[in-house]
Amino acid sequence: MKSLLFFLLCSSFTVTAQQKQSHINLGSSLSPTGNFSWLSASGLFAFGFYPQGNGYAVGVFISGVPEKTVVWTANRDNPPVPRNSILLFNTEGRLVLQTTPGQDIDIAEASGAVSFASVLDSGNFVLYNSDQEIMWQSFDHPTDTILPTQRLPENRGMFSSVSETDHSTGIFRLKIMLGDGNLVQFPKDGADVPEYDYWHSDTSLTGGNVSLNLGVDGHLYLLNNAGFNIKNITEGGYQKEGMIYFMRLDYDGIIRLYSRNLTKKSSKSVLWESLQDKCVPMGLCGYNSFCVLNEESPECRCLPGFVPVNPGNRTAGCERNFRSESCINRPGTVGSSIQQVENTVWEDSSYSDLSQTTKEVCERACLSDGNCEVALFSNGQCSLQRLPLRFGRRDHNTDSKNIAFVKLHTTPSSDCIDHKEVAAV
Ligand SMILES: *[C@@H]1O[C@H](CO)[C@@H](O)[C@H](O)[C@H]1NC(C)=O
Ligand SMILES: *[C@@H]1O[C@H](CO)[C@@H](O)[C@H](O)[C@H]1NC(C)=O
Ligand SMILES: *[C@@H]1O[C@H](CO)[C@@H](O)[C@H](O)[C@H]1NC(C)=O
Ligand SMILES: *[C@@H]1O[C@H](CO)[C@@H](O)[C@H](O)[C@H]1NC(C)=O
Ligand SMILES: *[C@@H]1O[C@H](CO)[C@@H](O)[C@H](O)[C@H]1NC(C)=O
Repeated sequence: MKSLLFFLLCSSFTVTAQQKQSHINLGSSLSPTGNFSWLSASGLFAFGFYPQGNGYAVGVFISGVPEKTVVWTANRDNPPVPRNSILLFNTEGRLVLQTTPGQDIDIAEASGAVSFASVLDSGNFVLYNSDQEIMWQSFDHPTDTILPTQRLPENRGMFSSVSETDHSTGIFRLKIMLGDGNLVQFPKDGADVPEYDYWHSDTSLTGGNVSLNLGVDGHLYLLNNAGFNIKNITEGGYQKEGMIYFMRLDYDGIIRLYSRNLTKKSSKSVLWESLQDKCVPMGLCGYNSFCVLNEESPECRCLPGFVPVNPGNRTAGCERNFRSESCINRPGTVGSSIQQVENTVWEDSSYSDLSQTTKEVCERACLSDGNCEVALFSNGQCSLQRLPLRFGRRDHNTDSKNIAFVKLHTTPSSDCIDHKEVAAV
């Protein structure tokens, strides 16, 4: 009797669970121009094709709202696919993208046999086996966004996107340090060391298996191994009805918690951000350039004697301009001079250091040393640098009075015309 009751309870639960979720059967398919997505039960989230560049990408987006927001992208660094592509949930339970006939690109690597898929109302896209066990879920592979009920475990890197509209891997990353518990932001190309930590949650030494969690009320917090809350990043308690919250590592290197009103246009607003100073994310400005705030927006400036490698792409940085004024005005002269830039900070990768010195000595040391391109002077310390210089930004600490002495080369006129030194080596 007891077991029959148990059986009845279980099966009725299964039935309601199935009715609540979208159920995608083997053999289903999508195409960019036809049925382009599968919806979650409430229609809030969709999994499928969305326009990207000159083609389409596959991912999860907030659908039932005036403006779509992409929250997950499959194979984010693959090029956009053409309009005749097909996304097939084939009879073997593999989810494959077919861009050219006979070429299947896997969208998900399931841990076992798959018998159906579902887009959950949380925004999680899940592949299940016949026992309704999860074989793969998009929540385990975050790109730049964390949704409510999603959990970022320790040691799993999350990367920003290239831009608001291009969701391929950008230049910033975020991670909870393994066995330590600190949530740290790094430039993508910096190692996991304090020198490259440009923001952290101040939860170091709180133990292993710390995770980042987001509640449906906008509560962003860190849990430790025992499930204790070790830090509230936001307190939460925001209106739940008709609203959605999501956390994103934005393309400018700042983590933001957003809210969106599901019925109102242009309603995205920022509830919290990791940094106010948009110049702090390391690497926003590429090699040999430094970040300066103009009003609130970051701008990248080249060192004197340098020009942008690719105007319009700040990440590309700057390179020496051998066709500079001095070069064109004084053809045939060879020599070096120094120009000063005040109040900037850079990564220190010096090959030689002088301590307890003066700025005059520092300037001359660089001028007379053939290896020196820039000397960084601060508080009696002089460090001689080769190119490229990285992670430059204006230093707002007016007490530091630091100076970058930049060597300018005056080259023969033939070099002026044809030769362009590539600064980024
Ligand atoms: C889209 O899907 C519906 C229901 O599965 C189907 O009736 C319809 O023919 C499909 N449309 C296209 C263009 O494939
Ligand atoms: C990690 O912590 C979570 C709670 O935050 C817990 O549910 C999970 O079992 C822990 N995992 C391990 C391997 O200890
Ligand atoms: C964190 O926030 C939760 C819910 O908003 C609250 O109950 C808890 O007391 C807070 N914990 C700390 C350490 O502030
Ligand atoms: C969302 O926007 C609608 C329309 O402007 C408004 O009536 C509603 O109160 C808003 N909801 C919340 C939670 O702010
Ligand atoms: C910008 O420059 C970076 C660094 O050279 C490069 O990786 C990136 O692809 C460029 N972006 C665009 C849009 O050209």
